[in-house]
Amino acid sequence: MTSTPITAISLLLLLFLSTTVSSVPISGLDTFLTHQSRVDPHSNNDSFLSLPSSLKSSLSISLPQISSVISSLVSLSLPISLHVRLVGPTTTFPSSSPSILHSYLSAAHSASRFHVIYPSSTFRESSHFLSVSHSPHFDISISPSLSSRLSQTLDSLLASTPSSLRSQLLSIPFSSIDEIIKQDFEKEKSINGIFIYLISLGSKGKKYAYSYTPGDSSPGFTKCLGSIWTGKERYVWIDLGAGPVDYGPGLSGDGVLPRGEFHPLAALHGRPKSQKALLADLSSLVLSAYQVLVVPSLRIPVYFENTLIVQFIHVYGAESIPDPGGLDWKSIERTFMDEVNDNGLLVGDQSLIFKTYKVNFADCSVCSFAISKSINSYTSRFLFDNYTLIVSEYLDSKKLHQIMSESAEELRRVAGIPEEDFGRVLPVYVFDLDYNSLLMLDRFHQSVAFRDMVIAVRTKNTQTVSDYSCNGRHVFTYTRELDRSLVGSILQSMWGVSPTHLLWSPMHNSTLVDYTWSVGQTPFGPFSEISSLSFVQKDAARRNVLLTSLNYSITSAIDVLESLAAHGGDRKLLKRNRHVEFVQRWNLFKYKLDKAVSALSHMDFEMALFYLRSSDHDLYNMHSLVYHASQELEASLVCFKDPPVPWASISMSAVVFLVLCYVYTKREKLFRNKRKQF
Ligand SMILES: *[C@@H]1O[C@H](CO)[C@@H](O)[C@H](O)[C@H]1NC(C)=O
Ligand SMILES: *[C@@H]1O[C@H](CO)[C@@H](O)[C@H](O)[C@H]1NC(C)=O
Ligand SMILES: *[C@@H]1O[C@H](CO)[C@@H](O)[C@H](O)[C@H]1NC(C)=O
Ligand SMILES: *[C@@H]1O[C@H](CO)[C@@H](O)[C@H](O)[C@H]1NC(C)=O
Repeated sequence: MTSTPITAISLLLLLFLSTTVSSVPISGLDTFLTHQSRVDPHSNNDSFLSLPSSLKSSLSISLPQISSVISSLVSLSLPISLHVRLVGPTTTFPSSSPSILHSYLSAAHSASRFHVIYPSSTFRESSHFLSVSHSPHFDISISPSLSSRLSQTLDSLLASTPSSLRSQLLSIPFSSIDEIIKQDFEKEKSINGIFIYLISLGSKGKKYAYSYTPGDSSPGFTKCLGSIWTGKERYVWIDLGAGPVDYGPGLSGDGVLPRGEFHPLAALHGRPKSQKALLADLSSLVLSAYQVLVVPSLRIPVYFENTLIVQFIHVYGAESIPDPGGLDWKSIERTFMDEVNDNGLLVGDQSLIFKTYKVNFADCSVCSFAISKSINSYTSRFLFDNYTLIVSEYLDSKKLHQIMSESAEELRRVAGIPEEDFGRVLPVYVFDLDYNSLLMLDRFHQSVAFRDMVIAVRTKNTQTVSDYSCNGRHVFTYTRELDRSLVGSILQSMWGVSPTHLLWSPMHNSTLVDYTWSVGQTPFGPFSEISSLSFVQKDAARRNVLLTSLNYSITSAIDVLESLAAHGGDRKLLKRNRHVEFVQRWNLFKYKLDKAVSALSHMDFEMALFYLRSSDHDLYNMHSLVYHASQELEASLVCFKDPPVPWASISMSAVVFLVLCYVYTKREKLFRNKRKQF
């Protein structure tokens, strides 16, 4: 028990030390590297070689203890600015609100690491944590001018919207409110960070919520209304006066959330609250938005590749009718390419290519084998006249994945898919079956994302009632409509973007499901109908690649340091010239990592990529220096037959060196080949 404050203090000390260690100001270095980023944006050349000797000598600051160097590496942290705007009359948000909210938020949140839901498990055991952490910095203020404009707009919308027989909530199109908020955001967006608008316009006398697509609910179609919106650009708004809305699993199960008066989205509904209780609820809402939308968990680690290729492979049955409504490759491709053309999703010189292939189910024995092997059935009990057992079928996605991986070669041959020489290839198998009954993956899913492929299935069955409901009505799944589901799965497999309802929780040591943010603009989950991406997915896609690379660089740098330590330290292993170069390389490397972290925290992903690539040259050279020195040491030790030889670490650095050599020979593809080291 008593160890907790002590650990906390030593952690603080560590943080303090690491910031002092990291911020060695070297005049001129910044200018030099900024210049490099202009002349050599992809960092093909080793910047160390063109470094003026005056700068080199100012980099010769000797290394502190290796253990403290390692701790400075694993305590890199991204500060992230969150701008909270309280929009509402002074009765709801008196002038003291910002400072009270600020105190709640700072008390509740401390720095935390970036999390990975499914870490890779090859090469070395890997954890759910990246070595990099993040911490929110809040700027909270009241926006009175916005409040009156929004209130007027809302009043006129409420007056002109006829009430609906099907719902107690009036359905207001989100766009009329969004336009006003977006205008306000445009004025402020030069400030870097993410904006969260908390709107409370006072009682309007009518219950309302926002609809995200045109049209109303009907008996065969449930529309989920919401009270939030996540923009294409970096802002979120939450109308606390809307609702209360409720959406989640229909009966039971994980993630029953935005429901009941205790959920912070319903903070203003139910019994009147004290000012402090309201702000406490809002602080938990802001923190939830921070965790899910601003620093979401990575679904999987993703390594940089120059070329990303999505192969749509349509396995169609004899009777399958062309159905552009539900399976429209062009529209899926457009969803991604629109973002790419808008400088989202990709970094550096990456390119994204879509290819389509077709194969007739009848000509593909592997396909029919895979389907028949993975069909399973489950029994459910229904009460008609008496209890009746109903047997339904589903496909086991893991089994299907295994067979498809094992027979990839055969499948490529049948479908005429050429071998791609470069880049990351993501096959998207869509089984379009001549099958009359419902057949879903693992009972509930239209498509499932794996690390190396996406699998989707549809049959002639057109709809089913899902296990989800919103505002007391079941949500239907249109089983032939695959577009949106495929967009979500491709995002997960290609970019490691987590669905909006999944979050790794270190406290529970498991993945949490929470649907709070799964309405509005998100391609994930059963409650939204929109497949376009918000800033959440666009930023996550780019940040995931950079964080994975950064984590790799940290791990690899720790290897060098540990190998040094195993040989008795830098001074002992490295002789004169090597030592000088090592120290200079090290300081340059650390400087670039700090710059990459700072660029990431400003969401300048291009700059972060430049610094990471540039630091790879230094990392490689440090490995090489240590490797050669340890080889010489080994040779001399063999001559003199002296005992304690740190064989393990020598062979480790040899392995690392060989791997790096391999990478170095393919210098222009350096980043792309990183994943081969795992
Ligand atoms: C990289 O270095 C080579 C030779 O060292 C030089 O010719 C080339 O111009 C450099 N490229 C850039 C982009 O600086
Ligand atoms: C990130 O790096 C740490 C050590 O530096 C390692 O333990 C962890 O497994 C890495 N995570 C991933 C996802 O590679
Ligand atoms: C249950 O009801 C069905 C008709 O709905 C009937 O055919 C069947 O015999 C009944 N079973 C039992 C055990 O009563
Ligand atoms: C988390 O769960 C995994 C398996 O579910 C287990 O192996 C691991 O020890 C757990 N970690 C902690 C910190 O409880």
